[in-house]
Amino acid sequence: MKQSDVKATLSFSNGSPSVEFPVYAGSIGPDVLDIRKLYGETGMFTYDPGFMSTAACNSSITYIDGDKGELLYRGYPIEQLAVNCDFLDTCHLLLHGELPSATQKTEFVSTVTNHTMVHEQMQFFFRGFRRDAHPMSVLVGTVGALASFYHDSLDINDPKHRDVSAIRLVAKMPTLVAMAYKYSVGQPFVYPRNDLSFSANFMRMMFATPAADYKVNDVLVRALDRILILHADHEQNASTSTVRLAGSSGANPFACIAAGIACLWGPAHGGANEAALQMLQDIQRDGGVEKIGEFVAKVKDKNSNVKLMGFGHRVYKNYDPRAKLMRETCHEVLNELGLQNDPLFKLAMALEKIALEDEYFVSRKLYPNVDFYSGIVQSALGIPVSLFTGIFAMARTVGWIAQWKEMISDPEQKIGRPRQLFIGSPRRDVPSMAQRG
Ligand code: SDX
Repeated sequence: MKQSDVKATLSFSNGSPSVEFPVYAGSIGPDVLDIRKLYGETGMFTYDPGFMSTAACNSSITYIDGDKGELLYRGYPIEQLAVNCDFLDTCHLLLHGELPSATQKTEFVSTVTNHTMVHEQMQFFFRGFRRDAHPMSVLVGTVGALASFYHDSLDINDPKHRDVSAIRLVAKMPTLVAMAYKYSVGQPFVYPRNDLSFSANFMRMMFATPAADYKVNDVLVRALDRILILHADHEQNASTSTVRLAGSSGANPFACIAAGIACLWGPAHGGANEAALQMLQDIQRDGGVEKIGEFVAKVKDKNSNVKLMGFGHRVYKNYDPRAKLMRETCHEVLNELGLQNDPLFKLAMALEKIALEDEYFVSRKLYPNVDFYSGIVQSALGIPVSLFTGIFAMARTVGWIAQWKEMISDPEQKIGRPRQLFIGSPRRDVPSMAQRG
């Protein structure tokens, strides 16, 4: 980043001395005000709950322009990557900064493929869970447990350890997600196969049984691959910031990714795809398209605490480019499966149309986000609602680990330790029991 010739001066109305701050410009996007010396020079903190105006790091990985509805992975528009690349191209791009050449692709695919199996003892962790445990609880547990098998690669200061841990996590997430699903339906785990592509391998581990192997459907596999590309990374979102904060303490990458999975689980974040589909199913159950007006009225009533799940975004104040691509994928998959008249898809499009014409949503710049259509596509692929966020985690693992690697390699990185505005009790003495009233 380069220092701008613009300076920022902070002055105080109480006569305290002004403070000058450097302004840095990135390659694209907003400039930043470097306030690192603020506390030292003024004894004051900034106050920014939710980090609405805070850049926590510098990064070269993913760029979002919320007003333009633009998303770039290492400079490449998501619209082009989703059409011209597959998920492992995208993984190579996010991890190494460039799309792979043909030779590099062959080598990268082979490396990832040969790390898809998990240690045979991993299966015993599943047995401790109830069969109806939420898959995200299983993934938080099993991904964290991976650290206990790789004592040979936990030195985060060793670039080779960082690289092999990144590959292991990208490669083993599909295996663990599929195992979580198989455990929930009481079917035996299916081992990965090296002769299948990343996404075909996942679909087979999900849907093959000892009684009947999985017949690869290229349209469905391509749809899943696109879902993974669209969810691979997204700047400094809540779960990525969680991974970075965990990593800033020197925690091993498996623990950091487990922390990211835990954060992604929330309905305001990655859990929104599950919540959006539940929302559509509830409206469908209560009467379908005719009931949309009633539902939207509830959303607009602040006391209802009902949100239009899959709508709105902290950064996108225009259409989420991923939502457009997800809607196209919806069409393709439903047509392939002869489900053009899928009632939930029709309901989602009707709800989207009504919301985009309603002043409440227009004035708040609330548009569909990546989660609005992804649940319908995943349902059509046979993925159960409870596993939607697990699929999101499987995709986002490469983004998390790319951001973690970038942070660890940043000479400026320090342990993350925010401060606070204290509004509690000033110092007071402990009363005796008799004095406690
Ligand atoms: C993801 O950060 C990322 O990049 C995340 C993500 C990624 O790839 O990592 O993109 C993935 O998490 C997408 C977002 C998925 N979440 C949902 O779909 C849940 C529903 N959306 C909302 O919870 C909300 O829109 C957020 C959390 C996504 C964003 O919230 P903000 O930026 O804090 O905005 P806000 O809550 O301050 O909302 C501003 C106004 C408020 O109304 P007023 O107080 O001004 O009257 O808009 C309203 C909100 O009540 N609002 C909604 C709404 N989202 C915001 N009203 C109804 N339905 C909604 N979905």
